Amino acid sequence: MSQAIEIIPGDGGDEPPCLETGNPRFGDLVTRRLKRRDVLAGGLATAVVALFVRPGEARTGGDRLDFKPVPVSRADSVTFPEGYRVNVILPWGEPVLGRMPAFAVDNSGEDQAMQVGSHHDGMHFFAIDGHTDGGLLVINHEYVEPRLMHASASGLKLGAEDAYLIDGRRPADDVLKEMNAHGVSVVRIRREADGGWAAVPDPHNRRITALTPMELAGPVRGSDFVKTKYSPNGTCVRGTLNNCASGATPWNTYLAAEENWAQYFRNDDSKDGKPDQPREHSQYQVPRGKTRYHWELADSGGDAFVRFDASRKAPSPVEDYRNEPNAFGWMVEIDPFRPDAVPVKRTALGRFAHEGVVFAPAVEGKPLVCYSGDDAMFQFIYKFVSAQPFSKAGASGHLLDDGTLYVARFNDDGTGDWLALAVGQNGLTSENGFRSQAEVLVNTRAAAKHVGATRMDRPEWGAVEPTTGAVYFTLTNNAKRKPDEVDKANPHAENYFGHIVRWTEEDADHAATRFRWELFVIGGDQASGRDLAGLPLDENNLFACPDGLWFDAEGRLWIQTDISDNSLNKGRYEPFGNNAMLCADPQTGEIRRFLTGPLGQEITGVTTTPDGRTMFVNVQHPGAHTSADEFAQGRLGSHWPAGGSATPRSATLVITREDGGVVGA
Ligand code: FEO
Ligand code: CA
Ligand code: CA
Repeated sequence: MSQAIEIIPGDGGDEPPCLETGNPRFGDLVTRRLKRRDVLAGGLATAVVALFVRPGEARTGGDRLDFKPVPVSRADSVTFPEGYRVNVILPWGEPVLGRMPAFAVDNSGEDQAMQVGSHHDGMHFFAIDGHTDGGLLVINHEYVEPRLMHASASGLKLGAEDAYLIDGRRPADDVLKEMNAHGVSVVRIRREADGGWAAVPDPHNRRITALTPMELAGPVRGSDFVKTKYSPNGTCVRGTLNNCASGATPWNTYLAAEENWAQYFRNDDSKDGKPDQPREHSQYQVPRGKTRYHWELADSGGDAFVRFDASRKAPSPVEDYRNEPNAFGWMVEIDPFRPDAVPVKRTALGRFAHEGVVFAPAVEGKPLVCYSGDDAMFQFIYKFVSAQPFSKAGASGHLLDDGTLYVARFNDDGTGDWLALAVGQNGLTSENGFRSQAEVLVNTRAAAKHVGATRMDRPEWGAVEPTTGAVYFTLTNNAKRKPDEVDKANPHAENYFGHIVRWTEEDADHAATRFRWELFVIGGDQASGRDLAGLPLDENNLFACPDGLWFDAEGRLWIQTDISDNSLNKGRYEPFGNNAMLCADPQTGEIRRFLTGPLGQEITGVTTTPDGRTMFVNVQHPGAHTSADEFAQGRLGSHWPAGGSATPRSATLVITREDGGVVGA
């Protein structure tokens, strides 16, 4: 598959680099730069102010984890602890609605709209009336693998650059199938008599795709930035793209993140022979010349297909597609209990490569707070604080339309500041190119850079500890950080293995503008990885490239890894084997490997039934490490989950204990 992005070791195959120039740093900062060897020599607890445990206190008294860790695996299978069972449900192409067409490689684009999408990612289980033996599972489908999707002529030439172009065009039904394999699935599932789980037909079952009509809400709605041929008044948008992680609101709806949406578009605008993209495109690295899947080259299908070429072609923005990209990069709210409800893009939460979102516990009468990371190298961590107080009786998505978006500055002394991205504050003025809150939000990255936020090592998922309110974020890797660019929150030049940061808000108030932070764990092997106490990671817990992060109700922290498919089991990543899921005790710092996935995949997405006795985990892109040459020879790097010679398919694992106990306990 061709991509208009540079792949570097440790960079997820779906993750574009973002090489912003350095920010001015505000305040009276400690200027000593921390090198990796300093951290290794002194331990994490001396690298920053230890907030939660002292050196020597770690690794004692913990009883949260009670399973035998699994070893590193390089098998094309899922491994899990003794005493557990795993079944696989909802693979890509499983029929779930309409005329229920069975999965086949030659399914049409229309068939795909009735089937589970591909590349499962963030996910949430919505119980119905508190039941634990069934409910609605909502799953993001981040992207697709065209090599596996088409029996048409375009599928026969796979393995070569641009192989799915035919005479410079793409068959429209191939494009339709790929669009319909994106988005979100809402599926009723239930426990069967044998203890396994399965999808069942249900009026709630729904597919949301790159073509589903959606509304824009919040300050950007109706602004000139989002007036398009499709929506001349700037209130609507067609579809959602690259839905990575997710979040669940306190009022029981689902939020899907739009992450690497920029790659789906192109903009070839130039002036005086030089590239001339508007800031709304260039800061997110909308490519020139070539899009990720060449959807704009569909041989028929009209505006919905060709809109991905956002170059200026007409006098007015409502006559061409120049503003189409501005309708992406948001968090999308979906109500799984109302199948007819129009999804809503909540623009007040900012526009960037949203990895996901996590809410602080909602407190009656207090502002609602949520956190979100921008997953690109040197990008930022954000939080949103609602203007109106939370009220359980009246809470709805409108709470997310009015409030303050902040971006984090991690000071080297272990303190941190939340910097408001509000027009007129912190230099976000018309003289500096920010004339309205809509302009601030459409250009969130530029605004965050302007106010002096800390440039992080690819912020992925966040999680809030239920007992303490501490906020954790994964920083998956950043091989491009130079020695003179390290700071204490991103202490490694050439950060190949990633780390996890955590903080507590001042006075335990999630709406506070100050916080204190420390590093929770540094990814790596025995030589480079360090736990909370500064002790080396070992064969039971070494890991690299943390991505998914989630707290269960009892306070266990689940960590999922995403070593890039083109780096797995090679070179410096060889010790880590296949991508895996680990479990941590946040108080003691103990970490154990819980599960490993098949070849070529990443583990991502985790949720449980309300009793914690059934866990759902996604396996995304098995076999993605297959090279173009191997593919051209008819070899697939994985046949998971069906085995034999089957096409590899992303799917959901259902994990239970043989004794019916709480998973992980
Ligand atoms: Fe889609 Fe940043 O992971
Ligand atoms: Ca991810
Ligand atoms: Ca990732």
